[in-house]
Amino acid sequence: MKNIYLNILKPNLANLKKAKSCVENNNIIGIPTETVYGLAANAYSEKSVNKIYKLKKRPSLNPLIIHFGNLKHFKKEVVFNEDFMKLYKELCPGPITFILKKKLKSKISKKATAGKKTIAVRFPSHPVAVKLLKILKVPLAAPSANISTRLSPTNAKDVYDEFGNKIKIILDGGQSKIGLESTIVDLTGKPTILRYGYISAKKIYKILGKKVSVRKKTKNIVSPGLLNLHYSPGVPVYINKTTPKKNGAFISFGKGFKNAKNYFNLSKKGSLNEAASNLYSTMRIIKKLKFKSISVCKIPNINLGLAINEKLKKASKK
Ligand code: TXA
Ligand code: MG
Repeated sequence: MKNIYLNILKPNLANLKKAKSCVENNNIIGIPTETVYGLAANAYSEKSVNKIYKLKKRPSLNPLIIHFGNLKHFKKEVVFNEDFMKLYKELCPGPITFILKKKLKSKISKKATAGKKTIAVRFPSHPVAVKLLKILKVPLAAPSANISTRLSPTNAKDVYDEFGNKIKIILDGGQSKIGLESTIVDLTGKPTILRYGYISAKKIYKILGKKVSVRKKTKNIVSPGLLNLHYSPGVPVYINKTTPKKNGAFISFGKGFKNAKNYFNLSKKGSLNEAASNLYSTMRIIKKLKFKSISVCKIPNINLGLAINEKLKKASKK
């Protein structure tokens, strides 16, 4: 069979250098992270950042996360505080994004932060992202590598399915271990979780030793990605179900479910971490197999189940 995935490259040194020059010439690349794959651009360049919004069909009011490899770059752009330093020491690099104040003199593209005075920053731990950020002279603006409102990709081929050859390079870092986007915590005031993820509010509370709230609903767009219609696999999703619909697939979790062609188990052993890492790719497979809908069983609303249910609830909105 013809290999169509010509822009998917092994992350060896030669290809990392290619990726570096691509970014420094203001082109867009696909990169692996431990959460989901990102669509990455030179965060200093308005031109590159514009390309991301265009490719993703992302509303320009929805700011991007800026990925850094070290504190030196970061210190030039962001005002950091005690809470940040504590969390950074314990959790970074890792699957958490911090909202902090942007320095007035910051060189980060205003478009990337959608004109906001705050900035979302993250230090990914995937070895390929770490290596790339180490050789780059610039930070990376990188939203999840999907068309706006769709599911985030968790492997290189899923990035290809979203953008094909519209991006020159997709670095192949295997399947994303976590499989759900990073936790977002706003540290500009009292610590507040804006998006659930692998790092729980409890964990943050333990490190900071102070109350961490969770933003449920907001009138102002604090984190526009929290808007409804998101994480859509392209077919209707029904949550808390016990059976599939006609011509539909069923996503199960744990033991006691049927073994049938339209049944897909996120984790037979009932591990929420395993379920999270399988969730998006399972929904993509179901869509490719042309099932007309996805019904999902009840998923325990604890630990990483909180993040899984947050995504499923949005995916099920019409
Ligand atoms: O795991 C992740 O975070 C992945 C990987 C690639 O790093 N990235 C990711 O980016 O999920 P994206 O763009 O799909 O989601 C970023 C979220 C959006 O909901 C956006 O509104 C929010 O971060 N955000 C960005 N800047 C913000 C800011 N200054 N204040 C509040 N929310 C912000
Ligand atoms: Mg996204």
